[in-house]
Amino acid sequence: MKAKVTAEGIRAMKGGGKKIAALTAYDFPMTRLLDEAGIPLLLVGDSLGMVVLGYPDTTLVTMEEMEHHVRAAARAHPRALLGADLPFHSCETPEQAAANARRLVQAGAEFVKAEGGLAILGQVRAIVAAGIPFCGHLGMLPQRVREEGGYHVKGRSEPEHQTLLADAEALATAGAFAIVLELVTPPVAREVTRRSPIPTIGIGSGPDCDGQILVTHDLLGTFPWFTPKFVKPELNAAEQMRAAVHRWKSSVESPEAEALPGR
Ligand code: KIV
Repeated sequence: MKAKVTAEGIRAMKGGGKKIAALTAYDFPMTRLLDEAGIPLLLVGDSLGMVVLGYPDTTLVTMEEMEHHVRAAARAHPRALLGADLPFHSCETPEQAAANARRLVQAGAEFVKAEGGLAILGQVRAIVAAGIPFCGHLGMLPQRVREEGGYHVKGRSEPEHQTLLADAEALATAGAFAIVLELVTPPVAREVTRRSPIPTIGIGSGPDCDGQILVTHDLLGTFPWFTPKFVKPELNAAEQMRAAVHRWKSSVESPEAEALPGR
């Protein structure tokens, strides 16, 4: 049996030759399936707001909703390292950040992730001081979607480029074990990755990060109403589900037609 994945184990994958494959999971069966498929890093992302709860963005997700889904995912007892997002406005002060990180750990998370760099450094230090592994999240920050009026690529301007470098350095120094880079221009993501002592895990940030993370619903096509441009789905599960349900519905509604030879 393979050993349990730890935050230290993920950090040690930096420069090890094998890239980190990470996916989101929000419940027991998906966590178990992805774990059985050998994914080492699973995240109960606040993207659950859109792909599970039907919200327009992540800003409406609450701590209670995160705890509920973390509990469900943790019941799979994955070998993978299982983390959770600190939702919008749950990490405003160091005290609040540490208290809410503890709540997610009590629900079953083995690390927490929060959006921001230097702006939340006190919060990151408080989480790390509480003994909770921390993963950073830089670039496009979905919790700022309303403030910024959309999901915009980061790193195109020189100030954004310099901010990303400074934020990444600050997070690593504060004790983060990894950093998600979301929608960062590939050359800047490559530079952050080259300079960072901890792994970068990209999403829509080009091929040169130390790992890649996707929202599992985007990868499998179970949320067909929106797929980010950078995702190439591996499956069109929604189509297959519709077709399967349609076949079953027909068999219920006209059982004699189903019984015909060749059906
Ligand atoms: O909320 C989320 O699922 C995330 C990942 C996509 C990185 O933050």
